[in-house]
Amino acid sequence: MLYQVYPRSFADSDGDGVGDLRGITGRLDHLVDLGVDAVWLSPFYASPMVDFGYDITDHCAVDPVFGTLADVDALVAAAHARGLRVLVDVVPNHTSDRHPWFAESRSSRDSGRRDWYVWADPGPGGGPPNNWLSAFAASGPAWTLDGRTGQYYLHSYTAAQPDLNWQNAAVREAVHDVLRFWLERGVDGFRVDAAHRLVKDPTLADNPADVAHLRTALVPGGTRLRHIDQPGVHEVLREVRAVVGPDTLLLGEIGVADPTRWAAYYGSGDELVPLNPTFWSRPCTTDALRSAVDTTEAVLPPGGWPVYALGNHDLSRLATRCGSARARLAAVLLLTLRGTPLVYYGDELGMTDVPVPPEAARDPDGRDPARTPMQWDASPGAGFTTGRPWLPIPPTAGTVNVAAERADPGSLLNLYRALIRLRRRSPALRTGDYRPLPPTDPGLYAYWRQAGDQRILVALNATGRSRTVAPPGTSTGRLLLSTDPDRPLGECPDPLVLAADEAVVVESDR
Ligand code: NOJ
Repeated sequence: MLYQVYPRSFADSDGDGVGDLRGITGRLDHLVDLGVDAVWLSPFYASPMVDFGYDITDHCAVDPVFGTLADVDALVAAAHARGLRVLVDVVPNHTSDRHPWFAESRSSRDSGRRDWYVWADPGPGGGPPNNWLSAFAASGPAWTLDGRTGQYYLHSYTAAQPDLNWQNAAVREAVHDVLRFWLERGVDGFRVDAAHRLVKDPTLADNPADVAHLRTALVPGGTRLRHIDQPGVHEVLREVRAVVGPDTLLLGEIGVADPTRWAAYYGSGDELVPLNPTFWSRPCTTDALRSAVDTTEAVLPPGGWPVYALGNHDLSRLATRCGSARARLAAVLLLTLRGTPLVYYGDELGMTDVPVPPEAARDPDGRDPARTPMQWDASPGAGFTTGRPWLPIPPTAGTVNVAAERADPGSLLNLYRALIRLRRRSPALRTGDYRPLPPTDPGLYAYWRQAGDQRILVALNATGRSRTVAPPGTSTGRLLLSTDPDRPLGECPDPLVLAADEAVVVESDR
């Protein structure tokens, strides 16, 4: 099981209100207690923080707000000592506009690094070269004119994040060196930011107004993601794979909504493991959840292993999108599917989006509410900081926190812990195959997981009414878990009826 830490918001060791590496190291035992196998750290590199670390000025340096390289080494060592692996974010598509590479590139059309970024002459009338838009709603065109040299540069995100030119072998080699640098420091893998964007259409043709695969998975119903992924991207990702070797986990952010095009990023096991975005834009209904999984299963290449996540730092919080009852049900789904589960920090507590008043807003794309400080305890700084937190801590932190939930047998945290323990000791849940039951009752989503002679039935009722999973005389086995903390476990009830928004895990003896 994987766990995402957003370093600014996990734990602040020095009281400046911003989380840091030492803070994370000091809280690793929470991850061990939860049953995490590997932790993914969002960027902690040198950055002007326009996009909070996804705008980098030195990929091999730690921003002072987060600590030092020695703190990374200490974190990696402490994680490894606890049996946790560490994945770091790599941001290959763009740099900060204050990166020395870009400073040199923009200095003149003849600069030796001109070709490290994507430059183009103005379009007719002096406007942008084409109609490409930034992925950020507020950022408008994906092109900004550089007055000094009279050309536009491409930026898929803010104008402070110019896109690198991956057609240039020197750029590819420079990013390969970044990967080698972190591998040599002992990290176990990478989350590859915006991996589908590395190669651009060389003709710079206008994008069609709207086609299905341009729709972003990140924004429900959204059409902001104006990039058509290019066939050449697979070749550069195969090169990346060759640099890191077959055993390094490469989790790719692949913002491609078309499932078949998305699945192509597995390559033949020689590219990445694309993070599965299918849940991010769907409602928490039985049909939507089932179709997300079944679509994924249908497009996976042979041997392709899914990595499912229900939340991340770009989305509204799971408990806000789904409500608290369905967040419990979603936890059961995530931790019993065929595939590796990835949990966003705080989702195991049921943290919700925190309203951020406009004067306190920090993010250029409105994502602050899902990035607020981790809620450790009921103290004024929520155990996150002794200072003034960089984003607000909500009043609900008094009860929605690690300490309180650890002590409450019925809490969401203890549901996560129970599910992860169950998964760890069940071959069927860990590695078994997945067979959905026919959707005879539209309110139910049920599936078998089976490995050897262990057969596990998972049933979810994402409706507001009770549902019969197994009529009288048909259910035998042991009820291993329910989202209802008051339901007695042990012999499976006959008939097996689920309450509204209940999910169960049953080990069958047939
Ligand atoms: C995707 C990251 O998850 C997001 O936070 C970031 O703003 C963009 N890529 C740009 O790096």
